[in-house]
Amino acid sequence: MAHATETTQTTRRDFLMLATGAAGAVGLGAVIVPLVSQLAPDAQTVAAGAPMDVDLGPIAEGQAIKLFWRGKLIFVRHRTKKEIDEARAVNVATLPDPQTDQARVKEGHEQFLIVYGNCTHLGCVPLGNSPGDPKGDYDGWFCPCHGSHYDSSGRIRKGPAPLNLPIPPYAFNADTKIRIG
Ligand code: FES
Repeated sequence: MAHATETTQTTRRDFLMLATGAAGAVGLGAVIVPLVSQLAPDAQTVAAGAPMDVDLGPIAEGQAIKLFWRGKLIFVRHRTKKEIDEARAVNVATLPDPQTDQARVKEGHEQFLIVYGNCTHLGCVPLGNSPGDPKGDYDGWFCPCHGSHYDSSGRIRKGPAPLNLPIPPYAFNADTKIRIG
């Protein structure tokens, strides 16, 4: 009985956290969009491939945003410690497209994962950025088109997609600021 109460409390707490996360995400979206458009060069320059500066500071731990650069979709996720630990605990030799988590992030900024946002199977947009989205079996992204599962490092773990989500060219120019391109 005590266990049932605890479970109910846990469920309610999880719901409240999710609800808070959802509200945060809406607020974040409202902040991020004008911020990104303010920082970004004009559309014509971006289309031509100009670098784009992005402030990751407003992205709370556990949240993610979507960006477009050179007409391509990019996911930026602020990973939790649990997600980082999961990504690093994997035996890389068992992966369809073997790559360490360390090779997919910048040293000292492991909490931020930045990947192109189209499934490497047929290009659908995987789910996993919004609170409440399915993240697949490996805490990353789930592609609803044909069932590919990506882990919290954006590596393909299950399903028809053959490759990991690629990493765009970027560098940190401050603690939470990156330049893509
Ligand atoms: S496009 Fe993602 S699994 Fe087919």
